[in-house]
Amino acid sequence: MPDTPMSLIPPALPPHLLETQLRRLYGHSEGFDAWFLALLARLRDLQALRPSTLRALDAQRRADWFCDQRMVGYCAYVDRFGGTLRGVAERVPYLQSLGVRYLHLLPFTRPRAGDNDGGFAVADYDDVDPTLGNVDDLVALCARLRDAGISLCSDFVLNHCAEDHAWARAARAGDPHYRAYFHVMEDAADVADWETRLRQVFPHTAPGNFTHCEAMQGWVWTTFYPYQWDLNWSNREVFAEMLFALLRAANRGVEAFRLDSTGFLWKRRGTDCMNQAETHWILQALRAAVQWVAPAVILKAEAIVPMRELPPYFGEGEARGQECHLAYHSSLMTAGWSALALGRGDIPAAVLHHTPALPANAGWIQYVRCHDDIGWPVLAAESSGSGRLRPFALAAVAAHFHGVGDSDAEGEPFQTAPTGEVHGSNGMTAALCGLSRARRTPDRQTALRCAETRFLLMYALALAAPGLPVIYMGDEIALDNDHSYRSDPARAHEGRWLHRPLMAWQSPSQPQLADASASRIQTELRTWINLRQSLPALRLDASCTVIDAPTAVLAFLRENSLLAIFNFSKQMVAMALPQGTWRDLRADALLHSSLPLEGYAAHWLQRTSETPP
Ligand code: GLC
Repeated sequence: MPDTPMSLIPPALPPHLLETQLRRLYGHSEGFDAWFLALLARLRDLQALRPSTLRALDAQRRADWFCDQRMVGYCAYVDRFGGTLRGVAERVPYLQSLGVRYLHLLPFTRPRAGDNDGGFAVADYDDVDPTLGNVDDLVALCARLRDAGISLCSDFVLNHCAEDHAWARAARAGDPHYRAYFHVMEDAADVADWETRLRQVFPHTAPGNFTHCEAMQGWVWTTFYPYQWDLNWSNREVFAEMLFALLRAANRGVEAFRLDSTGFLWKRRGTDCMNQAETHWILQALRAAVQWVAPAVILKAEAIVPMRELPPYFGEGEARGQECHLAYHSSLMTAGWSALALGRGDIPAAVLHHTPALPANAGWIQYVRCHDDIGWPVLAAESSGSGRLRPFALAAVAAHFHGVGDSDAEGEPFQTAPTGEVHGSNGMTAALCGLSRARRTPDRQTALRCAETRFLLMYALALAAPGLPVIYMGDEIALDNDHSYRSDPARAHEGRWLHRPLMAWQSPSQPQLADASASRIQTELRTWINLRQSLPALRLDASCTVIDAPTAVLAFLRENSLLAIFNFSKQMVAMALPQGTWRDLRADALLHSSLPLEGYAAHWLQRTSETPP
């Protein structure tokens, strides 16, 4: 465990990385010194405007405040979960009862009218989506959550804004100042040249990375949907505007920011424009400014990239530990699903084994499902075999979750052509684990129990692996896929709505349970969460060592005292235990030398000095 972490008293002077990285990024631009001084003056204003309750939070927090094992997260769309921001506030006691301490609400900023990628096309970073409430509701919700010991995490869409954001409208109207906020190509050959190296995020629904704009007589860079215009971060004004918007949100009480699509920020010809060095300088400069103005606030990188690209998002070299505080461990999430499909615990074992140790006061986000598809390509390197890991076919993994062959999963392919490279899979945990199908099976007790065990295996892994586990809305009551989007013309083209169901409620503090399975999943999940929260060995920053196990099994030790074991096959497997005596925390039994694992079983064992019978 790290040494006593520093307290978060705001430094008197801006952290040196702010100036260093801004000079590297923009130092060559005309009038940089004056621009930088003006930026510092604005930051001082924002410091002065920080409300006293939030300054008190800054003063009282330590740098590792989010590393506590009691930090358990929950992720939801405002409208799907609570209707409005006020509706979310009414559900705070429910979140507390689940043990939630960190609430990630998907974008609630004012989006473009019409299709908006679930809010990820932002028309105004300072305003709230009027269908969800207003700024006062947001401030009130932050305060309500803070009182309940829950930190609000808000998406902050860094890479792009909506094509009807004021900046984009001004650019379309011919204002050169705002045209420079975007990447605009005037030459079709140039567009074609860039395209040769860029990947496609939505190859079916939004092919290509550029969108022609008649009014601007050119092609605008649009990595995602054509209405999401990539911001030009090589323009220092973009940096300043975005930083100020983020800090204004922090001053309203947002305590964590999910920095959306961070991998795409910097464009460099001749590359795939992902994970460029300048992207990291930008993030480090943002972090330094946040640390100066609102030190209690943390930044989370949404970089769904292979493991080799991830460590830089925490900061490397002289900036080690000075970039994002958190980042998604999408490789482990994807490896967990691969393990379930193939009965191979050695896949997540290899991923965990190759996960580097993080700097102090940093951590992973662990999760089973989220609002996006499961993107298989992050495991491309692992799937071709690495070290002792036998190769495996991601296409076979995806096919399993799409219900091919004798699989009982009910996920659906996302942006994958029948013959093309595997892209992603959609579906709720219940559907992917076979629970949805089992619910419709006539003689169903065995099938239900098997599917429930798989479901809980996946969550027991997310709750034990190093990081902050985040429950995806509806999973705690085993909600099924939601097919209703298909008959809604506004959403029918977007398969990810399959796993964005409406929460079912009896009352704001009591969800509606569909059946006995929902009830069992809820009870079991609560038990695992409570257990996690009682175990300091599951702090975010506690060490994690993978130990030898049969191929079907993943086993790792946290802090040399907590042994987590998962059998990804449906067969019984015997697991040899490391030396010592172990207490099975769920079965409350003492164990020595070996443990017979039922199919899909998850066990957490604690080292003990007691003697077995
Ligand atoms: C992130 C979001 C995803 C969105 C994309 C574009 O990856 O998680 O839902 O479509 O960014 O904003």
